[in-house]
Amino acid sequence: MRAALNALTEELRRLKAEGVKNVTVSEAGLETLRRVVAARRSDPGRATVRTESGLGADTVEPPSAPSRAPERTESRPSADRAATPPPIANWEPPPPSAPVRKATVVESNIPDPRPFTLPEGDKATRMAALLEIVTNDPVCLANVRPGKKVVLGVGNLDAKIMFVGEAPGAEEETQGEPFVGPAGQLLTKMINAMGLKREQVYIGNIMNWRPQLPTDSSGVQYGNRPPTAEEMNYCLPYLRAQIDVVNPDLLVALGSTAAQGLLGAGSFKALGEVRGKWKEFGGKPLMVTYHPSYILRNQSNRSKRMIWEDLLKVMERAEVPISDKQRNYFL
Ligand code: URA
Repeated sequence: MRAALNALTEELRRLKAEGVKNVTVSEAGLETLRRVVAARRSDPGRATVRTESGLGADTVEPPSAPSRAPERTESRPSADRAATPPPIANWEPPPPSAPVRKATVVESNIPDPRPFTLPEGDKATRMAALLEIVTNDPVCLANVRPGKKVVLGVGNLDAKIMFVGEAPGAEEETQGEPFVGPAGQLLTKMINAMGLKREQVYIGNIMNWRPQLPTDSSGVQYGNRPPTAEEMNYCLPYLRAQIDVVNPDLLVALGSTAAQGLLGAGSFKALGEVRGKWKEFGGKPLMVTYHPSYILRNQSNRSKRMIWEDLLKVMERAEVPISDKQRNYFL
């Protein structure tokens, strides 16, 4: 319970940092939250609320923390940061017919990262070895649910540009590939607008697993939460290793969590402080920009223009040719 409320608070803070001013909470979600808060007031030691459906000793967890967008929820076909519903539209308790079970892994103990070495050899050999290490990592495996996958980056091993996102979502943990949901489709469009193909860049994440939240009785996770500092710390060496193997000219951090993961927790309060600026990570120039999901939620020309300005800087630095038409997009 505490973990879920913390995750909710953390997510709302993050949305605020990203510039989101309003969130929508369904009446059902609000009602559940009210009951949770009321129960905590009357009995702060107890973290659960009795259901009103007469399920006896069964307890209800609060609704999952809102996804920063309705991305990657399994309850909707567009299981990514979809454009239409407001960010927290999917933040609803599971339907009454689905008994709720308590979270088991939200507060998992994440150890220090495991030391590993990659073999000598060409990029393909080294990346294959890394894939083997990551997909067999016991901590990664312990954090993915049965039938779901540990996710490593994909793309061109000679890419000049490496995009770094936050964490796999529902689609990604199912397919074992980063950015394959709606946010990923928008990222692909952004890459195409740069005059590149997805196959020409490398796409990774800070995290190799989808940060877990309580599930319903059938094991479905509703929504997403940002990774904890410990989780990011655990996975970061794997991202460093990918950077080491690919050796891109530059990195692009997508969104505030990726930027915090690379620049250090607490290195900025609002994404606006670092967005559009060149930073550095692991000896590589790092451009910080918005996560595609932000654009899915904010379809204004202004938002698109801002992210596009950042991508123009990336193109310039990576010596990707820029046409006049590209320069004038969204003007
Ligand atoms: N968002 C991310 O940050 N990473 C993914 O892989 C998908 C969505």
